[in-house]
Amino acid sequence: EKGGYDHFMLKEIHEQPNAIKDTYRGRLLANEGIIRMAGIDDNIEKFLNANRIIIVACGTSWHAGLVAEYIFEDIARIPVEVEYASEFRYRNPIITDNDVVIAISQSGETADTLAAIKLAKANGAFVFGVCNVVGSTIARETDAGAYTHAGPEIGVASTKAFTTQITVLSLMALKLAKQKGAISNSIFHYHLQELELIPEKVKKALQSDAHIKIVADIYKDATNCLYLGRGYNFPVALEGALKLKEISYIHAEGYPAAEMKHGPIALIDEQMPVFVIATKKGHYEKVVSNIQEIKSRKGKIIAIVTEGDIDVRNLADHVIEVPDTIESLTPLLTTIPLQLLSYHIAVMLNKNVDQPRNLAKSVTVE
Ligand code: F6R
Repeated sequence: EKGGYDHFMLKEIHEQPNAIKDTYRGRLLANEGIIRMAGIDDNIEKFLNANRIIIVACGTSWHAGLVAEYIFEDIARIPVEVEYASEFRYRNPIITDNDVVIAISQSGETADTLAAIKLAKANGAFVFGVCNVVGSTIARETDAGAYTHAGPEIGVASTKAFTTQITVLSLMALKLAKQKGAISNSIFHYHLQELELIPEKVKKALQSDAHIKIVADIYKDATNCLYLGRGYNFPVALEGALKLKEISYIHAEGYPAAEMKHGPIALIDEQMPVFVIATKKGHYEKVVSNIQEIKSRKGKIIAIVTEGDIDVRNLADHVIEVPDTIESLTPLLTTIPLQLLSYHIAVMLNKNVDQPRNLAKSVTVE
């Protein structure tokens, strides 16, 4: 059942190249320059006329929502708010019939997300679901949706659900960007081609496993860790920290790298491992200067970098490479080493990787 792997989590991490392919199969027609998604086509006016998109989710799915906020705003130029479903539902939020709500849920059963959907519907919003489990409650309660098609995710720590959610949301943003005329045909085509290359690049990122295991062994006894990223990779920092917390029980925090100097930098000393996503895109130079700040305070730096990077390699204690891609798709690659790292640390610490204490795969009570 675990396909030769020691744990479901490891199996599911390695399934990601195929899971992402399954997600875009039949939807992404890169050569023709078409994205086919019936749930969007059938409701295109709702999306194009939306004042804004409100994304509701919990946990890892909320992190996928944060990545989507960057891509929807950056590429499709649609305003997006990302809300914890549990906060949204009790906040007396302002919702109108010009709002589109996207609910993201692997299980499709999360109580708070379901309640947020009901509230949004009662106020006239159009609700679109991004679920993995076919026929789940959230899939049924939403007005339309798109499945992630990741296959069953058994490990409590979400892995392939996250990357396939980002894949679906990227397809949606690209499709809407094209329909709105927010991006040129050539940029649209370029994005489709790059997305099609992602599964092979994820495979390549997975090949760093042996090196990641060595890094895991060095830092497995840390009591605190920081994860930093900017832009599209800020949510990846949050997700990396969550993965470490939930399966290894090591305290970890994710921050936007620039927030360091507003407090967390006080934590840095020679005991503190800092995982920094420093791919050669977007805010690269700024991340490099954040790394310098950590280094001058003697923090240990483990950087996720683009293949061939030299500048960060010269500063960091360890680097883990991922292949190059366009900025909006980097989260699909930078997440991989952080998943593997958490996995190996949890195994080395003898934790119950697939069923961490106090956690359940679907949270059907609030
Ligand atoms: C983290 C994790 C949880 C879930 C959260 C939402 O690894 O598994 O944080 O992401 O409970 O669950 P879904 O996506 O099923 O609504």
